[in-house]
Parts: sequence; structure tokens; C-alpha cells
Amino acid sequence: MDRIAITGGVRLEGVIPISGAKNSAIKLMVASLLTDQPLRLTNMPRLADTRFLARLLQRLGVQVEEREGADGPETVLTTPEIVSAIAPYDLVRQMRASFNVLGPLLARTGQAKVSLPGGCAIGARPVDLHLMALEALGARIDLNEGYVYAQAPRGLKGAEIAFPSVSVGATEHALLSAVLARGESVISNAAREPEIVDLAQCLRKMGARIEGAGSPVIRVVGVDRLTGAEHAVVPDRIEAGTYALAAAMAGGEVKLTRTRPDAIEALLLKMEEAGVGVERWDDAVTIKRNGARLRGVEIATDPFPGFATDLQAQFMALMTLADGESVIRETIFENRFMHAPELTRLGADISVSGGEARVRGVDRLAGAPVMATDLRASVSLVIAALAARGETVVNRVYHLDRGFERLEEKLSACGAQVRRIRAGHDDGVEAD
Ligand code: UD1
Repeated sequence: MDRIAITGGVRLEGVIPISGAKNSAIKLMVASLLTDQPLRLTNMPRLADTRFLARLLQRLGVQVEEREGADGPETVLTTPEIVSAIAPYDLVRQMRASFNVLGPLLARTGQAKVSLPGGCAIGARPVDLHLMALEALGARIDLNEGYVYAQAPRGLKGAEIAFPSVSVGATEHALLSAVLARGESVISNAAREPEIVDLAQCLRKMGARIEGAGSPVIRVVGVDRLTGAEHAVVPDRIEAGTYALAAAMAGGEVKLTRTRPDAIEALLLKMEEAGVGVERWDDAVTIKRNGARLRGVEIATDPFPGFATDLQAQFMALMTLADGESVIRETIFENRFMHAPELTRLGADISVSGGEARVRGVDRLAGAPVMATDLRASVSLVIAALAARGETVVNRVYHLDRGFERLEEKLSACGAQVRRIRAGHDDGVEAD
């Protein structure tokens, strides 16, 4: 199993280019099931998660070609026909988002059998809202032996889908299913994440009729068929936020390029409140910290445009060295404080009660061996290690490889002392 060793105490100076968003790329790849023509995705991140999904899509009949384009990595996905409408457990369990193939398979073939994703490290994460959307669109759903059996022999038909709570995955699933349904669908209480807007933009290029993506009400008028298209994946706001926090933790000055500061505004405001210098550009953001001690601030995670749950662990790492107490409330996922005991191993003072963590800033952290528990938790340990005295070794870094492209390279380019210790191989375990 690979490990990452970090020697802390080095200020970061330099430029970090942000990759395409993992959470967008994987939904865009799924959209390729909706047409028999090529879908060309540029600004593609190369991650363990995109590889998992490519493997599943190939099983379903998608031809996946990865290549180096003029503007970086791209992937062309072509699905002349669906050769199997079955997504087995061993592939779906590795990445929960692969459950979203259900709707497109149903729309294109009238039937599908897709494994339930199962539990994961950050909570129960049910799929009831996904199934609610598909049933509203006229699918017949049966659950048996861990699989969803779905049928819509005469195709899906437009419907009102009113979500009782906000879900990114279910909103995307509803979109991916409604675009080929007969008639109009109205999705209300929809998630508003930039990845939803990105998916809608790509689907529109493919010929879909969608209005309102990015707002709580999305209207879709179904079309008979979709075509191929070319689309650049939106920048990864979680990667950008993570490196912003890494720079703030280590001190120094780092410019994040190929990104959109407005997508991480909730984070940037909290960083400024804590005393971090932030300079915003159209497609870049500069983070500066001159060494003065930061102040503890309160945050609560929320659906977009609120503070992203995927940045909560990293923000907690920053607060471990801030002056005073900071309160961190997690409102999206139960059980998403698994990084707290690991940060404590580095010397942090954190107490967790229910959905709330209290972080009392300490004067210093000290390197130690720690264990990654999920994708965002593992990168929070890297951030803490950048400011800890001595060496920290992060174990189980396959979690990091699921969502961060060339992490060691990007941090080292800014002067961080980070190296990968290679060994053996491990299976990916789904987290987000
Ligand atoms: C996506 C992101 C993940 C991020 C999360 C919230 C991807 C691949 N993952 O996950 O990184 O942390 O959004 O921003 O894009 N829920 C239900 N029933 C459902 C679906 C969800 O109760 O059918 C609950 C979940 O358990 C959770 C909440 O709704 O408590 C939000 O989850 P959701 O927005 O669906 O997250 P994901 O799409 O899984």
C-alpha cells in the first residue's frame, strides 16, 4: 500500500494549476450512455475514480479512448449500442456515483439492473431520492438481493420531481434520466452545485432542452435523441479549496490557476475571516499568509453555495493551529469527523459531539504516522502535516488517489517536502 511522507515547516511559494473536477467528470462520462455518437471531454482529470468508472462503462458498451489533447488530457466516449444493462456490485461498490448509470440505461434500453452502492465510510448514504425520481418518471423499480431492477418498456415520461431534501447525486440522476423522457419534467428543490450546471451545459450541447440549472427549479423538455458533443470539464473547486487551505496552513504565497474563485467563495470568506490574505482573479486566486497566527472561526457545511462538506476536513486542519476555539458543524453527512482522531495524533485538540466539532487551537503540531479514512479526510492530514514539526507518514493513500491528481507533484512544485513511498497495491473503497 502506498504511503505519503511529508516533512512540515516549509513555506509554499509558487503556482498550482487546478485540474478538471472529479465530481463533474464522472457524471459527464455517464452522459455518454445517452447517445451513440462520440462525447469528447476535455480538461479531464486522470484519477482512480475516472478509471473505475471507465471500467464499468466499457462493460456496458462504451468505447473509452484517453488521449493527450492540445489543452491537456481528454477522453472520448462512444456508445454505439448498450451491450449490457447490468452494473454489478464489484464495480458499483468502488464508487457510489456509478449508480447514476441506472437512469441512462433505462432511458436508452427500457430496463436496467444496477447494484445498490452499499454503505461507505462517511455515513449511510441511501439512494431513496434517486429511486423516487426514477419512479416519478414512470420507471417500475424492484429491489432484490442488493440490486435495483428497473423497467420502463415504453420509455420514461416527463414528471414533477419534488425532492424533499437537496441531493447532488439525485438531481444529476433526474437530469440524466429526464432528458430523453417524453414531455416536460420539473425538478424542484434541486441541488445548485457548479457540477450540476456543468452537466446541464454538456447535455444541452448534446441537444437536451434544460433550463434553470444552478437554481432550485430545473425544467427539462425531453427530446427523442441526443448527439455527440465536445465539453471542457469545469475546474475542481474542491481541489482548489484544498490547495488554498494547504497554502494558508504552510504560509507563503500560492497562486491557483485554471480555477474559478466564485465557486469557492464561501470558503474564501471564512479564510479571510480567519486572517488569510486572498486575491481573486477571473480564473485564478492567490492565497497569502505572512506567518501571523490565524483566528478560530465557526463554519457549518451546507449545500452550494454554502460551505462545501468536501472542504470541512481540510478547514478543520487549518483551525488546529488557529488562536482560540473554532466550531465546525457538519450538516450534510453523519459520521464525517473521522479525521478528528487522526488530527489529534498530530497534537490537535478536538472534541466531537454529534454533528459538531470544537477545535481549540494549539501552538504546534508534531509529525506522526496517521491513517487516511476517506478521500477528503486523507488530504486534511496532508494539510496538517505541512505545518507539523518533523515527518508525518499518511497511510492508505489510495483514498487520495481517488480524487487528487498528482498531489505530491503539485505541492512539491511549491517547495513542500512531500514524497510517495510506493508499495504493493490496494483496492479502492468508496467514500465520495
Ligand atoms: C456528492 C459528491 C460528494 C459531496 C456531496 C455533497 C459526487 C461524486 N460526490 O455526493 O463529494 O460530498 O455531493 O456535496 O459528486 N441522500 C439521501 N437519499 C438519497 C441521496 C442522498 O438521503 O437518495 C442524503 C445523503 O445521505 C446525504 C445528503 O443527502 O446526507 C446529500 O447527499 P448528496 O448530495 O446526494 O451527495 P452525493 O451526490 O452522494
